[in-house]
Amino acid sequence: KRKVILDCDPGHDDAIALLMALASDNIDLVAITTSAGNQLPEKTFNNTRKLLALTNREDIPVAMGALKPLRRELIIADDVHGESGLDGAELPEPTVAPATIRANDLLAKMLSESDEKITIVATGPLTNIAIFLLSHPELKEKIELISFMGGACFGGNITPHAEFNIYVDPEAADIVVKSGVPVAMFGLDVTLKAQLFEEDIKEIREIGNPVATTMADLLDFFNLTTTVPFLAEEGHVEGIHMHDPCAMAYVIDPSMFKALPMHVEVETSNTLSLGSTVVDYDDLFKKEKNVVVGFDVDLPKFKELVIQTINHFSN
Ligand code: BDR
Ligand code: CA
Repeated sequence: KRKVILDCDPGHDDAIALLMALASDNIDLVAITTSAGNQLPEKTFNNTRKLLALTNREDIPVAMGALKPLRRELIIADDVHGESGLDGAELPEPTVAPATIRANDLLAKMLSESDEKITIVATGPLTNIAIFLLSHPELKEKIELISFMGGACFGGNITPHAEFNIYVDPEAADIVVKSGVPVAMFGLDVTLKAQLFEEDIKEIREIGNPVATTMADLLDFFNLTTTVPFLAEEGHVEGIHMHDPCAMAYVIDPSMFKALPMHVEVETSNTLSLGSTVVDYDDLFKKEKNVVVGFDVDLPKFKELVIQTINHFSN
């Protein structure tokens, strides 16, 4: 089993990444830290605690992270994830008191006390991870891998050239890719291919356990907010993009992805392409290949993992 810490901002797709970690035989989820991104930090923190209440896993420590990006004001994605950050489903209230330890201290505690290396999966803006790398350089060697959802080799979803998580805190992403720690990036190149369709939501709902019902409700909401009207009008059937679960699925079973080492830098100047991940696909800069970049996913295997994940909670 690989020890994993999840840094997330739930968020509909973050919720599925979290469930994958809880359900996998390959992962021991030892802690969760929460980032400000899809919603305000208090909300993503509470949503995480509610997801743990839903799955009876309130034994896992959760700590709130930075309240805003390193050098910029917070931008949230309430248009996609709603007022709560997890609109569309009723979630149980947490039954344990919120922890007072903050993300940076929890990361330091977990990594310093662990005999083995720990993998960090990050599914929101990378603020907490950057702060940790800057404040605890001596613990870098305890990190096995940072697998994050963010960026894109080609395209963007918040501006034409930037993906949301990186755009929210480009300085943090820059610190992470330059950290020297092994990094894997799951950007839009691959996450737009990790699609679930209405029939998949139906299959999830039919599993019938409380987690399945909640997830199906969340996915129905996510489906509504992420449908691109002009594509739909042209009859293009686009599934729901399972961005964040890709970064977790890679840790569970890397064989379902096509991912290649490349040189990656982040645009942090205030240009048209602020927050873009500049991926040297053709090795033009001849620089160190600092990031393994995901490009493709075996969709049937990925879907099987999603279904297995939800089924796990029937036991
Ligand atoms: C990313 O942005 C968020 O809205 C999702 O949770 C995901 O992490 C996709 O661009
Ligand atoms: Ca996210």
